[in-house]
Amino acid sequence: MKKVLGIIALALMVSVGRVYADEGMWLPMFVERLNYVDMQKMGLQLTPEELYSINHSSLKDAIVGLGSDPMPRGFFCTGEIVSEHGLLFTNHHCGYSAVQKLSSDQYDYLRDGFWAKNYGEELPAPDMTASFLIRMEDVTKDILGVVTDDMDYQDRQAAIRKKIKEMETAASEGGKYNPVIKGFFEGNEYYMFVYQVYTDVRLVGVANESIGKFGGDTDNWMWPRHTGDFSIFRVYADKDGNPAAYSKDNVPLTPKHHLPISLDGVQKDDFTMIWGFPGSTERYMSSYGIDYNVDTFYPMIVDIFGKELEVMEEYMKADEHIRLMYSDNHAGLANTWKNFIGQCTMLRKNKVSETKVALEHDFTKWVNQNGKTEYKNALPNLRKAYGDLGEVAKFVYYPNFIANIGAAGIAGQFGSYYQAYLDKDKDAMEMNLMMLQQMNVDEFFAETDPQVEKKTFAEMLKTYKNAFSADELPEIYSIIDKKFKGDIDAFTDDVYANSIFATPESIKAFIEKPNPKKIGKDYAYIMNTSMMDVIMNHMGDYRAAMQTVSENDHVFVKGLREYYAATQPEKSLYPDANSTMRMSYGSVQDYMPADAVHYDYVCTANGILEKYVPGDYEFDAPKQLISLIEKRDFGVYADDSGELVVCFLSTNDITGGNSGSPIMNGKGELLGLAFDGNWEAMSGDVNFEPRLQRTINVDIRYVLFIIDKYAGATNIIDELDIRKGEPKPLRVEEEKI
Ligand code: ARG
Repeated sequence: MKKVLGIIALALMVSVGRVYADEGMWLPMFVERLNYVDMQKMGLQLTPEELYSINHSSLKDAIVGLGSDPMPRGFFCTGEIVSEHGLLFTNHHCGYSAVQKLSSDQYDYLRDGFWAKNYGEELPAPDMTASFLIRMEDVTKDILGVVTDDMDYQDRQAAIRKKIKEMETAASEGGKYNPVIKGFFEGNEYYMFVYQVYTDVRLVGVANESIGKFGGDTDNWMWPRHTGDFSIFRVYADKDGNPAAYSKDNVPLTPKHHLPISLDGVQKDDFTMIWGFPGSTERYMSSYGIDYNVDTFYPMIVDIFGKELEVMEEYMKADEHIRLMYSDNHAGLANTWKNFIGQCTMLRKNKVSETKVALEHDFTKWVNQNGKTEYKNALPNLRKAYGDLGEVAKFVYYPNFIANIGAAGIAGQFGSYYQAYLDKDKDAMEMNLMMLQQMNVDEFFAETDPQVEKKTFAEMLKTYKNAFSADELPEIYSIIDKKFKGDIDAFTDDVYANSIFATPESIKAFIEKPNPKKIGKDYAYIMNTSMMDVIMNHMGDYRAAMQTVSENDHVFVKGLREYYAATQPEKSLYPDANSTMRMSYGSVQDYMPADAVHYDYVCTANGILEKYVPGDYEFDAPKQLISLIEKRDFGVYADDSGELVVCFLSTNDITGGNSGSPIMNGKGELLGLAFDGNWEAMSGDVNFEPRLQRTINVDIRYVLFIIDKYAGATNIIDELDIRKGEPKPLRVEEEKI
């Protein structure tokens, strides 16, 4: 009923018999209509009103979108409220950026962890906002009502944007709420989400990185996993409970709902639901889009990020100060880099493009048989547009990532000033110089290390050169050839010794006493403009292709919905993730990643001992943790067989943005925090893989064990609403032994 699968996947499902997976990221507003009966059968005990209500407090009121912006258009993660005093749980990797920013060489909270003993010790988290969804509503008629048949794509988009703005402003009730309208099904439906955004969010507790990121990038995106991926924050409000900028007079928020916590743990087949803010999926993408990503887009980004990471790691491993400074940047790049490698591999291995080709074949047949001329050209247009993108993409992405590296980045800021000089436009020169004088030069260099920047500069120039043929290389390479015999390192040494833009001091001196003629001869500047020229020369083609994709995706998805309604009327479709609140449900399940290999659905602290490598960059762990595990001192957090479960698997359908989401049992009690997907189903954003796709969750008992037994932060434990039911029978596997 809920499956949106192509022919091959559907056949697979039939052949494996019982299927536990539950595909779909459902909009809360429709849960009662589309999912409730099914969920009840699987083990849900709450009423629809207890899940989502706009009149009473409900579960949705405990689900928080974490953003860096007060305008909740996108969320980087999800959090959940777990106490009546606004306490919030999310992942360690979601709090990572804030924790890094709060750290210094003296107080390195990433390395050492941080635990506030009382409200007064909690630290205002930079750039973290907490959004609560008040209500959502269907505004499709209003938005699409402004579109007329004679409008072309541009006019249509402009009219829609205008209407969205108008409606958002009206719904804000003079600034009380933050409403956001978003398109669904490639712009075939529109919904408004009304939020309240709290900007005073404070760090309460975080474990050492060697717990919160245990296993590092080697284990990232993989099972079995032994990562304590959680961190703890608190939402503050003014004394009336309203959002307010940070003030010492603010008080902990009294939430409408908070999640109770279950100590009962999980067993195979247990019902689970996850609520959160998945960021983006492409479940309706055409085979052409998939081929473009696999053949062109992902390999390109993997190439660029891989090189950047290599340089960063070299210095991060050698120097604690550099490690701290680059950790957030590194974690983000590494996460995407490994994800794209996984997507390339698994989209191929799981034959996702082939699945889509089969669907497209059936769709086209249906279009032709039923005279649906409206949809006739969508797929051919998509094929052409993705073909064009495949040609032009490297001329946009490579230079885009390289133009602003190190000295070249700040050199680019002097472009308008230099142009005014070339144009002999005195007024413009003066105005641009004034702007340069106001620029905070030091900020440009803050949180960067000159050695890392210089090495990256050289390595990225090499990466670029490798990716293009000789006749495609921009001006800067002929300088490198002529003046430096093609030696990029020698060229880089020269830039960092002689360019105006190499150090804050030389830039400031230049601004003080500018000699504009010099800019045009500066190699950092020429590097920047060389790359920018490449982008400019190809941007027109790139934009045109992107627009064709967007236009025809809109038509294709419209057609697909009609096709499904006509051919499989029992199927409910769910919209792609787009940073709006979604519910997904499924069950606790193991899986078989390969022939004859079985992965259990839980892993335990024993695995931490197995993986532990003292002093290692990724597999070190605090001595005290190791000793607690060795002594098997797990307290009330052990399962009935005395083991400490660290993480567990479920079939819930999630994606990036869901990180930190609560995974709950049928009573709406917290069982753990979702934090990752598994390697074998990295193609899952494009096509859900029922046999393989799992969500990796950190078990709440491990979270509480770390807070309580490891960190001794009993003040946090005391605040929680912890529940324990009857002991359960041992797991089947254990009974056998
Ligand atoms: N894969 C996780 C996600 O995207 C992030 C894990 C962060 N850990 C890391 N080792 N980079 O949500």
